[in-house]
Amino acid sequence: MHASDDPPKPGIDPSLVPKRALASGAEMPAIGLGTFGSDSVTHETVAEAVRQALILGYRHIDCASVYGNEAHIGEVLSASSVGRDELWLSSKVWNDRHDDVGGACEQTLRDLGVEVLDNYLVHWPFPNFHPPHCDVDERNPDAVPFSAERFLDTWGQMEALVERGLVRHIGTSNMTMAKLDSVLPGMNVRPSVNQMELHPHFQQPELRSYLAAENIAAIGFCPIGSPERPERDRTPDDTSPTDDPVVRQVALAHDVHPATLCVAWAVNAGHTPIPFSTNPRNMQANLAAASVRLTDTEMNQLAQVERACRLIKGQVFLWREGQSWRDLWDEDGAIAV
Ligand SMILES: NC(=O)c1ccc[n+]([C@@H]2O[C@H](COP(=O)([O-])OP(=O)(O)OC[C@H]3O[C@@H](n4cnc5c(N)ncnc54)[C@H](OP(=O)(O)O)[C@@H]3O)[C@@H](O)[C@H]2O)c1
Repeated sequence: MHASDDPPKPGIDPSLVPKRALASGAEMPAIGLGTFGSDSVTHETVAEAVRQALILGYRHIDCASVYGNEAHIGEVLSASSVGRDELWLSSKVWNDRHDDVGGACEQTLRDLGVEVLDNYLVHWPFPNFHPPHCDVDERNPDAVPFSAERFLDTWGQMEALVERGLVRHIGTSNMTMAKLDSVLPGMNVRPSVNQMELHPHFQQPELRSYLAAENIAAIGFCPIGSPERPERDRTPDDTSPTDDPVVRQVALAHDVHPATLCVAWAVNAGHTPIPFSTNPRNMQANLAAASVRLTDTEMNQLAQVERACRLIKGQVFLWREGQSWRDLWDEDGAIAV
């Protein structure tokens, strides 16, 4: 067969996916693949999604030990022809290992079958945890409020991982401005990123500006509005960014699915979305979102669709009877105790 007769290769050339420069100068692919199966997709299916994603050109994979699938993903990584140095691999220490970050990270490295992570995040700023598949009313009897002192102790263990060469960067997740204010001065190694919920119905402009001023990159989870999120993360007031008429209208103008438009919005807004998908067609469309250029007018229209709709409320991490999930998010600027 002549070269010109070759069938088109599936996927996107990874070199065409934009990169985000972190404060260290390292470059992180500006779209990643999420790997949380929302308690409903099997670990094998998520691992198969990672295998497909690598073929399609994804080079940034967002993992976490609590997703329970790192060993499955590790098998895919070791069988892949994509070299370790071509990949941006991120994972997170789960809440029950805040006192043993080193042991947790070593386990993740073993499971993923790699010697070093590009980024390792503190998944939640509390040691409060819940078992997989728990429901919204479940509470950890040992749950405690956020403490800057305790967090900095965990962070010191994170810094030790950088020192040991096990991770290249460390970062936070689910932090607020008030919590960051309380810990940034006590850190020796600054967070490279903060992972946070970001989609057109929850744009968090103040926190994003704060992070930009601190030179911390924003990674956006649930970029599509997590339509399959677990029951514990649903309330009757939740809205769906992919059903938003403005999102749909801009998507139509660019001939893309509203889900892909959400990914494109994130890239155009300068953050790093990590959409999850098990469907290769959707995965490819989401990675191709990097080339959807939204006009200033469209970005302004999309800024107006903000609904302050936090989907991942985190009720299961509350520490006192009768609390509201809003106590986790310091909405009045003070850290709830
Ligand atoms: N740090 C944290 O605390 C935290 C919290 C939540 C999530 N995360 C991370 O963020 C990742 C993403 O969040 P998420 O998985 O909750 O939600 P999401 O990425 O917003 O939504 C994923 C859902 O959207 C669908 N989808 C994806 N692309 C699509 C397309 N082009 N067209 C139509 N449907 C599409 C997927 O279905 P198909 O499979 O059918 O495509 C899947 O059901 C997670 O996997 C995890 O890695 C982190």
